[in-house]
Amino acid sequence: MRNTDFLTLEEVAENLKVTRQTVSKYIQNSDLNAIKINKSYRITVDDFKSFISENSTASEPQIKYLRKTRNCLLSYEDKIDEFEILNTYPKGDFQVIEQNHGDKENVFLFGDNYFVLKKLLEDYTGKIDLIYIDPPFGTGQDFNSLDNQAAYSDKLINSEFLEFIRKRLFILRELLSDEGSIYLHIDKKIGHYVKIIMDEVFGFNNFINDITRIKCNPKNFSRSAYGNYSDMVLYYVKNRDKQIWNDIRETMSIEKRKELFPKNHPQLGFYTTNPIHAPGETKDGDTGLEWNGLYPPKGRHWRYSRKVLTELDNKGLIEWSNTGNPRKIVLAKNHKGFKIQDVWEYKDKGLSFASYPTQKNEQLLKRIITNSSYTNSIVLDCFAGSGSTLKAANELNRRWIGIDNSTHSYNVIKKNFEKESIKCNFLEYISRD
Ligand SMILES: C[S@@+](CC[C@H](N)C(=O)[O-])C[C@H]1O[C@@H](n2cnc3c(N)ncnc32)[C@H](O)[C@@H]1O
Repeated sequence: MRNTDFLTLEEVAENLKVTRQTVSKYIQNSDLNAIKINKSYRITVDDFKSFISENSTASEPQIKYLRKTRNCLLSYEDKIDEFEILNTYPKGDFQVIEQNHGDKENVFLFGDNYFVLKKLLEDYTGKIDLIYIDPPFGTGQDFNSLDNQAAYSDKLINSEFLEFIRKRLFILRELLSDEGSIYLHIDKKIGHYVKIIMDEVFGFNNFINDITRIKCNPKNFSRSAYGNYSDMVLYYVKNRDKQIWNDIRETMSIEKRKELFPKNHPQLGFYTTNPIHAPGETKDGDTGLEWNGLYPPKGRHWRYSRKVLTELDNKGLIEWSNTGNPRKIVLAKNHKGFKIQDVWEYKDKGLSFASYPTQKNEQLLKRIITNSSYTNSIVLDCFAGSGSTLKAANELNRRWIGIDNSTHSYNVIKKNFEKESIKCNFLEYISRD
């Protein structure tokens, strides 16, 4: 156990085999030192150990607090302790630049997201259902707009970049609601390191998918390497199995419909047929008996009870071949769409068609927002860039909060949102840190 680790009140209770209330009493009586972060207590491992050694009534604990990682962490210089990240408070405040409506959300916050996110903890801890972020990728480059204005700098590289992300991820985790999800868009040069950081922050159990996003047309460069035409979106949740999951489906294309439902019925529309029997013989049951003068073929049984088969037949949903072979009619209009897989093709517009360098495809954002949030959920993007996430969230009737520290981002969002009549308040974080 590292001395910098800390435990929650629940973990202390579990270790000591006592209730949460008992641990609260230890804290109230100042027997156990704890620090209150927002509404919950954190106990450093050192404090916990000294409580054990000083308190003869507490039995030797079985130290089995929840490990979030697979017993390995990225190690680099200047890695700040989670506790310290979450226990320093920003001194600054928001100042209104432009007020266009009376709500708290649907807002763009101009400033360094580290301080802005910390400030948001005061009002939004546990309230954000969905976070999408597309941070700089640690490329070491500066990005300019089409008309050569400086958009943003991506000069942090290697461990400095990883620590930059890690610090923000801890705060983002606190902002997420119990049903919340976070999608982090990153390239494949650094993405696998970010995965380990996300395991550390969210717990590897809360990792859901590594989505491969096809970002452009195949590349034909001379380098001795396979063309890199994809990047990755790492998808984690606050609590596995509690996350908002709307189970959206991919609709069937016309080509796929033609392939899967090639026949056309004058009343029922496009359809295909399936056998009404399946492998395995039923010895005594209904599905092995004679139906309509037929028995299931040898070694097989009816897929449905004979009552259901008759109902299907009466509804015209059994197709009889010329040789008297019955098959079930399956209608294209009843198809629920395809389960979405983890390779997504959403190419970005070239810079000449986009309002911001590295602007992401709006359809990709809409898929994420539709599946992982409800109407009226709060969606947060703290690397807002062109405001593409905010715009998609707005169209889908979600509330939204965008943050960016680039003047170009601020200008682009202001101009585009005005043009598209998207009501947005603009605030600036004035730092006194
Ligand atoms: C890759 S771009 C995001 C593009 C965006 N997803 C879009 O579709 O337009 C990254 C953005 O993060 C912003 N950024 C970088 N560091 C930041 C920080 N510390 N605080 C706030 N924004 C930051 C940059 O200004 C830039 O706009």
